[in-house]
Amino acid sequence: MEYSEKYLHLGERVDPDANVICIYKITTDLDIKLAAAAIATEQSTGTWTSISTLNDEIFEKYHGRVIDIQGNVATIAYPEDIFSLDIGGVPQILSVVAGNLFGLEGLKGVRLEDVEFPHSMLREFKGPKFGIPGLRKILKRPEKPLVGTIVKPKIGLPPKGMADFIYEAGMGGLTNGKDDETLSNQRFCPLEDRVVAIAEAIDRVKAETGHVMIHAINVSTRGDQILEVAERAQELGASELMVDVITCGFAAVQVLAEDPSIKLPIHVHRTMHGAITRNKDLGVSMVVFAKLVRMCGGDALHVGTFGVGKMKDSSAEDLANQRACVGPELPYEKVMPVCSGGMHPALIEPLVKITGTNVQIQAGGGVAGHPGGVRSGARAMVQAVEAAYQGIPFSEYSKSHQEFREAINKWG
Ligand code: 3PG
Ligand code: 3PG
Ligand code: MG
Repeated sequence: MEYSEKYLHLGERVDPDANVICIYKITTDLDIKLAAAAIATEQSTGTWTSISTLNDEIFEKYHGRVIDIQGNVATIAYPEDIFSLDIGGVPQILSVVAGNLFGLEGLKGVRLEDVEFPHSMLREFKGPKFGIPGLRKILKRPEKPLVGTIVKPKIGLPPKGMADFIYEAGMGGLTNGKDDETLSNQRFCPLEDRVVAIAEAIDRVKAETGHVMIHAINVSTRGDQILEVAERAQELGASELMVDVITCGFAAVQVLAEDPSIKLPIHVHRTMHGAITRNKDLGVSMVVFAKLVRMCGGDALHVGTFGVGKMKDSSAEDLANQRACVGPELPYEKVMPVCSGGMHPALIEPLVKITGTNVQIQAGGGVAGHPGGVRSGARAMVQAVEAAYQGIPFSEYSKSHQEFREAINKWG
């Protein structure tokens, strides 16, 4: 591998408004400078060997610069001119900051921990149309956590079965429903039939109780279809869309968020992220994905369960994910952080202590598995959120709330 001092600019200041700054954690037997220089080389103007066609002018203008190394963490600045947003966009950004480098043989492991974009690039993105304020306005829920469910079983229910589930969940007071991440247009539950049936169920809840609920229809599909599928779902009465962002691509979220014909919030699921984010020595941190989802306009994003749910995540990382969704560092509307995966009413007390109340908490098994059925499961979740919001100890609150008590008895 070509070692080149030319890519090392340790201690040099670069203009943060003219560079994309990346933080990489590197595991290598090589000199860390060599490893960092190799990343900067491969992701900008170089390759594994010196080449006659790289002239000084091109090098000067476009090479990646290793500007800092602390221990096994290297900071690399890529000049903004090597990025292309009108054509390319997030796919091209990822090819630079998280591309071939993972295959460099001199690195035993490398993880992209964070990325800072210059304002010149950030202003090319629009961010969420709705975000936290938009979702709260639709749901008439100005402060409390949103509380939702995922229809279970994950697959197999026909449209009426899903609609009945959502009707019961809505009558139990939940604010959000969603398709599971593997549901699409299977024969047992055609998308269009599901949209109509669920919209009718949500309308019945509103007519009977005045309660507002939305349900995210999974429109994940190939890039040239997703807008048409989303428009059709919207036409048929969908109240929210869902995109599996890792399997569909960030550009898919951007297409829906930026299209003026789409007037629905976008719930962003991150299934498959674990393959890339879970290993702390190899891959990309969820913080990077959360920033990209916010830039691309996702309105709600799964950020993890802060160490209390089923999915293996470290709460420190989840706090960083939440920060990427709501922090002032990015000049966009706030994204609703979604806590989902193994959640049930008893976990809401520790969870809210960590996250605060500006979150969407949802449970699939934690609602459908309630001894009293879906409506009781929904009520238990709503009661748990109420207790957490009011800061009433769960041991106290459950004495006077049966469904909540039953959930705690079952799941502890
Ligand atoms: C699921 O689909 O089981 C979970 O919601 C995944 O949760 P995560 O998005 O936090 O990984
Ligand atoms: C999701 O997609 O959010 C999950 O499937 C949550 O399901 P669970 O609450 O049963 O883990
Ligand atoms: Mg799921």
